[in-house]
Amino acid sequence: MSNVFKGRSLCVIEDFSIEERRYFFRKTAELKKAILENDEKKMDEFRINDPDFGIYEVFLEDSTRTKESFRNAANFHHAKVSELLSSSSSINKGESYADTFNMLSGYSNRIFIVRSKVEGLTKWLSEECSEYAERNGQPYKPAFINAGDGKHEHPTQELLDEFSFLENQDMDFSHIHVALVGDLYHGRTVHSKADGLKIFDSVTVDLIAPQELMMPENYIEIMKDNGFEVNIYPSIEAYLKGGKIAKIWYFTRPQLERMGERILKKEAELREAITFKKEFMPLLREGTKFYHPLPRHKEHPTIPTFLDKTSLNGWEAQAINGMYCRMVLLSLIAGKTGDDFHGARAEEKDYKSEEYIVEVQPENKSREKNISEGVRPLRNGIVIDHICKGDSPEEIRKHIRLISSVLGLDDGRGGEWISQGSDGRYKGIIFRPGISDLSRKELKRLAAIAPHCTLNIIRDGKVEKKFRTHMPPRIYNFEDMSCKNDACISSPESKEGVPAAFYRTKEDTYACAYCGRVHTFKEIWNKR
Ligand code: CP
Repeated sequence: MSNVFKGRSLCVIEDFSIEERRYFFRKTAELKKAILENDEKKMDEFRINDPDFGIYEVFLEDSTRTKESFRNAANFHHAKVSELLSSSSSINKGESYADTFNMLSGYSNRIFIVRSKVEGLTKWLSEECSEYAERNGQPYKPAFINAGDGKHEHPTQELLDEFSFLENQDMDFSHIHVALVGDLYHGRTVHSKADGLKIFDSVTVDLIAPQELMMPENYIEIMKDNGFEVNIYPSIEAYLKGGKIAKIWYFTRPQLERMGERILKKEAELREAITFKKEFMPLLREGTKFYHPLPRHKEHPTIPTFLDKTSLNGWEAQAINGMYCRMVLLSLIAGKTGDDFHGARAEEKDYKSEEYIVEVQPENKSREKNISEGVRPLRNGIVIDHICKGDSPEEIRKHIRLISSVLGLDDGRGGEWISQGSDGRYKGIIFRPGISDLSRKELKRLAAIAPHCTLNIIRDGKVEKKFRTHMPPRIYNFEDMSCKNDACISSPESKEGVPAAFYRTKEDTYACAYCGRVHTFKEIWNKR
């Protein structure tokens, strides 16, 4: 079997399966031991050892640890290590990210390490640069590593955090109980934990933050869906009074640079709730370790510096682990390590097998008996029925207007109606005389904007064809929709011309394929 890691991108933590991540941690322990014991032979098993293998760092946002640990990791590999100085690059002349990275990939660069405020950037670049490589006959497609994108994810930090937790519990994957403390709202390192902690068989997570800095609801939902026990506390003080206290504490700093004026006014009060104090020491369990992705603020550290010389200090070893983890990650993506991995790789979603526009047999019962209140039967045309069944009349009316506009049904004759069924629920109906059929693309558009509806195609007073629409597994290729997260690469705000794409979640909502922002099927369409 070929090396499953070779050429892979790591844009979100779920890009690697649980088994792949467990394998990664074992390999990291192996390499770390070899380096500490100066075992050159073992180190060479991991080394890329190719001066033409290009590893490129592009940091569009500040960094010390991630950037420098990656640079040191890349140098370990005796590879070609480069850095794009973003402050003097042509990005500042309005060049798109796609053009910039396409060109760099043409210069024999195989792995890009990218940090940016723009969420979903590496995912977009991995698609775009693959097509560029194909167009230009390049023998490889570049891989992308997300080194942190806005509030979204920081998957390599997740790997090094978990490696540090595992080291602390002798590589035991059976259980973890961790307290996440600090700015859980803005912190991408804690967002990555919603899926990252799945490497443990059972997980208890205590979320400690005032309401303004609490973990966004969608990440809490993901944790619960993943079977984690989740407990919520407004401050460290409340946690120590009332909680079953964890031995692993993971602190994050308040990310002032990402906060609005309203929250900044309460800065001191918020810091107080998430800063550890001397008087808390006796309340900790024996063997407790503190971790922090760092940096910590020199004036207001949430882990005060008096703790540096205590046994609580897990954050220094954690930061050093960053380099070992990144050495192994580069080795895997280069295909130098990984041949002996035999587990399951991350699943590719199979979208093609799902039919979401189903043609059904028209019943053509007596239309006198089944007619909706107030609607006269059409002789020829289309009827879209069951629109937003169960919503309020106001909601239905609003959505009917959107459907009509999105499907180009605003011109000509016809009308709309809201009726109430015998169960008391409302539903919307659109009827348009004179339309004889919808194309496949129009049907797809209909399913995307009006799922759970029926489309009747009426000819000579009879239902000639009838379709039921279900929620499509993916919605893409339509110009009049967009991700509503302004920080996303596919948002019109980014001006990068990235077409929006969404995939259906378990809850029948749609997540942006780039930044993961969850939308209802109504929200993805642009306002008219
Ligand atoms: N933990 C982390 O990402 O640190 P830097 O911002 O210094 O890279």
